[in-house]
Amino acid sequence: MEDIKQRMEELEQLLEEANYNYYVLDNPTITDQEFDKYLRELETLEEKYPEYASLNSPTKRVGGMVIDKFQKITHKIPMLSLPDVFNESEIEAFDERIRKSGFHPEYVCELKIDGLSVSLRYENGIFYSGATRGNGTVGEDITHNVRTIKTVPMRIKKPISIEVRGEIYMAKETLARLNAKRSQNGQALLQNCRNAAAGSIRQLDSSIAAERNLDTWIYHLPNPLDYGIHTHYEALEFMKELGFKTNPESRKVKDVQGILDFIHEYTEKRGYLPYDIDGVVVKVNDLDMQRELGYTSKYPRWAIAYKFPAEEVLTKLTDIIFTVGRTGRITPNAVLDPVIVMGSTVKRATLHNEDYILEKGLKIGDTVSIRKAGDVIPEVVEVKLERRLGNEKDFEMIQNCPICGSPLKKKKDQVDHYCMNPNCPARHIEGLIHFVSRHAMNIDGFGEKIMEDFFNLGFIKEIPDIYHLDVHKNDLIELEGYGNKSVDNLLMAIEESKNNSLERLLFGLGIGGIGDKTALLLARKFQTMENLMTKTKEELLKIRDIGPILAENIENYFSNVDNQALIHNLKELGLNMKFLGEELKTSDDFTDKRFVVTGTISFMGRDEIERIIESYGGKASSSVSSKTDVVIVGENPGSKETKARELQIPIWDEEKLYTILKELGEI
Ligand code: IVH
Repeated sequence: MEDIKQRMEELEQLLEEANYNYYVLDNPTITDQEFDKYLRELETLEEKYPEYASLNSPTKRVGGMVIDKFQKITHKIPMLSLPDVFNESEIEAFDERIRKSGFHPEYVCELKIDGLSVSLRYENGIFYSGATRGNGTVGEDITHNVRTIKTVPMRIKKPISIEVRGEIYMAKETLARLNAKRSQNGQALLQNCRNAAAGSIRQLDSSIAAERNLDTWIYHLPNPLDYGIHTHYEALEFMKELGFKTNPESRKVKDVQGILDFIHEYTEKRGYLPYDIDGVVVKVNDLDMQRELGYTSKYPRWAIAYKFPAEEVLTKLTDIIFTVGRTGRITPNAVLDPVIVMGSTVKRATLHNEDYILEKGLKIGDTVSIRKAGDVIPEVVEVKLERRLGNEKDFEMIQNCPICGSPLKKKKDQVDHYCMNPNCPARHIEGLIHFVSRHAMNIDGFGEKIMEDFFNLGFIKEIPDIYHLDVHKNDLIELEGYGNKSVDNLLMAIEESKNNSLERLLFGLGIGGIGDKTALLLARKFQTMENLMTKTKEELLKIRDIGPILAENIENYFSNVDNQALIHNLKELGLNMKFLGEELKTSDDFTDKRFVVTGTISFMGRDEIERIIESYGGKASSSVSSKTDVVIVGENPGSKETKARELQIPIWDEEKLYTILKELGEI
């Protein structure tokens, strides 16, 4: 028995060492086959002798642990964030402030990794727990997911107890691969590496995190004195020796010029790094100096985060093409010579409408600058007039629908062109895709691609056909890529969608201007479809948030006989026509107030926060204006926080939000 226990320990160490050499040092010492052989041997032994299996065994790195909910972990030393600076003079001011305190600092410049911060604890050299930053004081226990991150050692090189902090991130290539797969499955794409990493770490089932191939850079040692360390740079080296992955680009510099050189260098190199960075972190190297400089209530006084400006890249506008949305709206799109902007390839960008193109003065063949708005959606910033050669072609707005050819119309006082043909195939398929989409009927497994297939095969032409799809079951199973099981699941999801609450159906119908939030407002107010259908424009106008255009759209939609027939038909098919959601709750903090949530809130996703705000009759919107009552600010908030401060709008930080939600019993 002792032999077995010993063999298991030996295998564990051997695999962990191989893992470290492969993932942290990028220097494999055994072949994949050998690794698999040892791993299988260990798995077999663990199955036979579970009493000897260690919690941190390399076999656990593939995931499989499922928790009910995240436990809280209190940070012994708070996890602070850093004050942002945006230009040279703010960096100079930082240096000057430190010099005025009588110091002659050396700095360490590091890359600001765009991920989420994590605290890792080890007891006697063995991995003990992993926690998110949370509100800085209390984070979430993500130990089960951290265990699946291959660069996090399960045992460090010295049998000491220690806490280290760093960033969990997803490499650009991993995101690209993940998104390619998601697109094949008709799932929504993850918008950037940070969101993808944060989403993966917030999973209860660790198999998902394991698949996501997360990675780490460790950059902070909260208790350096315990280990006789005197500079930050030594702390980085110490953590590296213990087996952590520390970023090789970190560098000591003497002065402001050194900082600026580092920033310039990585502004250039940024696009070539295999992971996303959003700036440079500058830290005073000497730890005694750090201690004397101390902290404000929110930040250390010895470090700053320089944030890169949104990256702009030049490319050629090779064409402008038009797409037709489900409401018939025509959108011009820029076709661009593919360029990499902030780590992903951009080939298209929306140009919104004719006026937008005319205002920017775009011609086909122009060189334009591209940026990612909010770091996500690509937009054309401006035309580079100095690059014009003279052979660029003037833009001309089309007069007919690119799909069905019927003449386009502009509605009164509006900038958009519309295809007015209700039977236009483009409008139709977009409408069907919208009907099954996540915020509408939410039919699981019904991606765009599938709808296109079924539409082209003639199985689905109109919304009610979705509910007759079972008639084609045998044909479907024979189609390439649709197995028996996936067809069954799809049919089941379709059947289940009949029980959705009214607002989903209302949103799914695609009535002009009714977004998911307005649909909810209407459903809650009128309770049944029948009730809503009989309302006049005047009655609808009495509702806060319903303006004249929307009221008219709703009245027009329900007075159209075809639409009435559609609803009748859906009712006959068994679709629920009642509001089943929760009635509004009230709270002084939320009711009737307008909110903007920005940045990453560590303890809850933004969708969930917005849902709670709305469940109290508050409104969540995406842009800050003078009408906004409160801006809720998480980590890495960006320009919305700046705007809120300019407009002097009250700001809630994570802690405040947490306290309010706690008081309301929402968490
Ligand atoms: S040091 C007290 N170093 O940026 C020191 N932070 O705005 C705490 N970050 O919350 C942080 N790369 O999530 C530090 N090299 C780096 C970093 C880094 C990314 C993140 C971290 C932190 C935020 C600060």
